[in-house]
Amino acid sequence: MEKKKFYITTPIYYPSGKFHIGTAYTTILADTIKRYKELRGFEARLLTGLDEHGQKIQEVAEKEGKTPQQHVDAIAEYAKNLWNIMDIKYDDFIRTTEERHINQVEKIFDRLMENQDIYKGEYEGWYCTPCETYFTETQLKEGKCPDCGRKVKKMKEEAYFFNMKKYTGRLIKFYEENPHFIEPDFRKNELFNNFIKPGLEDLCITRTSFDWGIKVKKDPKHVIYVWLDALVNYITALGYETEDDTLFKKYWPADLQIVGKDIIRFHAIYWPIFLMALNLPLPKKIYAHGFIMMKDGKMSKSKGNVVYPEMLIERYGLDATKYFLLREFSYGQDAVFSPEGFVERYNFDLCNDLGNLLNRTIGMINKYFGGRLPKYTGKINSADENFENQTIATIKQVEEQFENYHINTALEEIWKIISMTNKYIDETTPWVLAKEEKTKELESVMYHLAENLRKVAIMLKPVMEKTSTEILRQLGIEKEEIISWETLEQYNLLKQDIKVIEKGEPLFVRLEIEEEVEAIKERMKK
Ligand code: MSP
Repeated sequence: MEKKKFYITTPIYYPSGKFHIGTAYTTILADTIKRYKELRGFEARLLTGLDEHGQKIQEVAEKEGKTPQQHVDAIAEYAKNLWNIMDIKYDDFIRTTEERHINQVEKIFDRLMENQDIYKGEYEGWYCTPCETYFTETQLKEGKCPDCGRKVKKMKEEAYFFNMKKYTGRLIKFYEENPHFIEPDFRKNELFNNFIKPGLEDLCITRTSFDWGIKVKKDPKHVIYVWLDALVNYITALGYETEDDTLFKKYWPADLQIVGKDIIRFHAIYWPIFLMALNLPLPKKIYAHGFIMMKDGKMSKSKGNVVYPEMLIERYGLDATKYFLLREFSYGQDAVFSPEGFVERYNFDLCNDLGNLLNRTIGMINKYFGGRLPKYTGKINSADENFENQTIATIKQVEEQFENYHINTALEEIWKIISMTNKYIDETTPWVLAKEEKTKELESVMYHLAENLRKVAIMLKPVMEKTSTEILRQLGIEKEEIISWETLEQYNLLKQDIKVIEKGEPLFVRLEIEEEVEAIKERMKK
């Protein structure tokens, strides 16, 4: 049977410097969703890459005494290496300086000119250089850039415009007919009230103030605006309108486009309109996540509060780092990173709840049954029955949360299962059962513990691959057919005489709180 397709994209990143945990979050989230979809049998494709043109990049390169190309080449290498360290399973990495992209952007520009979606005029407005965006007087916030809050300057230039007005009605209709196109909902309301309701302005889509970009072929003093150049990466990467457009035919429209809240406007207004103008179907969903903040506001080098993913991964491992980030964000909301919060989650959730559960289970199976997992004897009493029912009900919740891409609540639900399994040990008191030689009951408890850990390992796989594999290894569960998502609700699967490892190694070693908080703070200053 042919597999169902799932196309998911991250934004393509500005190669202006290193990526901190906030920027990395977009990609971690997309990668987790891709892995979940794969686990559910989809043929999932993840696109990421770099947005290499524009004035800002030209300026950064100049400061470094490099050509823009040299600069972006170095960052491309850095980015690919970082995604490797983070085990990001991307299928394609597009760079906007690649020929495969440039050729298609030129064609798209010509097409839009021919269709009179683009016209030549004169632009006067307030320009924010870091955001590379023009604003009208009314869009400014207290005279400053509404996106980044920095100073803007008045500029006038001959330019090409995209006729946004022409598509406003169609966009509104599309929103109405597809109420889940933008998530979370409150972002859609913000966009609607701030940009669409006041009336969309035509968008200036060329610049003449710098030349690091794709030139308008017939009028080369004009450089195509980075956002038009960048947004179409999602289709140029699939070979849109090239000789071999198999991928485009297979994967477009995208199922899910993940973006941070700062760039939702470009993805939920301009991008759909560009697609409408090209007569192409729109993505199924645009999801805007919140920002990682620090206690003292945004991360910035000058404040000395920047956390890079490498430093957390190096000291605490990839799984713990991903777990923290994915657990802290509520759907679409901002999250705060604090060294204390990180260490606490590590100690409580990973060491105490999950690590100890595995350790106790392995220890008891060894102690009471010489390492051999007893056979399933059914629900032998109401405690087991309740335990199974509660677990299965919670698994359904986990699945629902994953399906809706609410990864933090999916993790919360998984942790409910971990907690109820720990509680099950405390309530069934296996050590008393052993003393009283209630073998049947003891066998049942051990079986249920191993089963629940098997379930936890499967559900954790998209988030914590290594931990998931390690749990199964320690339990001696290796057969493919018993580690699929579809087997989650079954309780009588561990039929073969499973042998757990003799001495379980801790999944996570408890951290000294003060020492680690200091260590993280120290690294933030560098
Ligand atoms: N180049 C554009 C995207 C063009 S897509 C056609 C861009 N790049 S970026 O490098 O600035 O941002 C990359 C991702 O990081 C974006 O999703 C952005 O929203 C996200 N974040 C940047 N800072 C962040 C936090 N502090 N927290 C969470 N996400 C953050 O935008």
